[in-house]
Amino acid sequence: MKIEIHGLNKIYPNGNHALKEINLEFGTGMFGLLGPNGAGKSSLMRIIVTLMKPTSGIVLIDGKDIQKHRKELRSMLGYLPQDFRFFTSLKTWEFLDYSGALAGLKNKKKRLTEVDRLLDQVGLLEVRDRQANKLSGGMKRRLGIAQALIGHPRIIVVDEPTTGLDPDERIRFRNILSQLSQHDVTIILSTHIVGDISSTCQGMALLNRGEVVFSGSPENLIRHAEGHVFKLSLTQYEYERVKDRYNVISTIPVETGWEVQIVSDDLPEYNSVSVIPNIEHAYVYFMEHKLHTEIID
Ligand SMILES: Nc1ncnc2c1ncn2[C@@H]1O[C@H](COP(=O)(O)OP(=O)(O)O)[C@@H](O)[C@H]1O
Ligand SMILES: [Mg+2]
Repeated sequence: MKIEIHGLNKIYPNGNHALKEINLEFGTGMFGLLGPNGAGKSSLMRIIVTLMKPTSGIVLIDGKDIQKHRKELRSMLGYLPQDFRFFTSLKTWEFLDYSGALAGLKNKKKRLTEVDRLLDQVGLLEVRDRQANKLSGGMKRRLGIAQALIGHPRIIVVDEPTTGLDPDERIRFRNILSQLSQHDVTIILSTHIVGDISSTCQGMALLNRGEVVFSGSPENLIRHAEGHVFKLSLTQYEYERVKDRYNVISTIPVETGWEVQIVSDDLPEYNSVSVIPNIEHAYVYFMEHKLHTEIID
């Protein structure tokens, strides 16, 4: 499967320019959309799932314009919106059964088998008879993913599924998604949490204020930060000056003052050691330094 996004813009009626000339291309597997709040992630996802029209530009799935093939696309799509909520007195399994019916699974017996298979997959089989709105936050989110998965969608769009989850739940969620990505599906995952972008993402884009500031593999993102991350040992006096001049990533108090990590385009004027960047470093580097340079790998 190939998804292409060409020259996409979204200007809301109030004038908010939420997406600016977005160009992206990715295939089967997991694609991570990373960016701070307001970057335009949800807007982009709503356009991809055809719940909203772009102001200009097109999205192609296997060469087909999604606007012209809405029905066909909808039938192969699973979507977990950012604000997924349910106000229902249905039991967990009933809710999923209902979602399955909406997704077009007409055979009741097959649907029930599918419901229990999915409940098992997301670890909710034990609570299948509990009222859905009485599940814990993490469980509700997992029911949300199950709801997006019913009917074997080939494209799965999940908008900030890990927000508000505790670390255990987050790991669990990531595992569910990475297992899924081993099948022949395309998963588009948005997040504002750098740690959610893992090596399971074949591709990713960094979005900031409606613009793509990076697209490529997570490894490439990190590579671009190489040589731009430094560790400095500073006195209190030096620290005060560095703080104002550089992007400080971390600060640790040590006996002689401070040990800080910074990102910088040039070698700092202090005694420094180059640090091998991780994805957090790379994120800061791009957000702070590369705001207006788009790099396509
Ligand atoms: N319905 C809307 N009307 C006007 N502006 C909107 C609407 N939805 C989102 N926005 C604005 O568009 C920008 C991108 O929002 P959004 O797509 O929700 O970003 P993200 O999901 O990355 O937080 C923000 O500035 C937001 O305020
Ligand atoms: Mg959002």
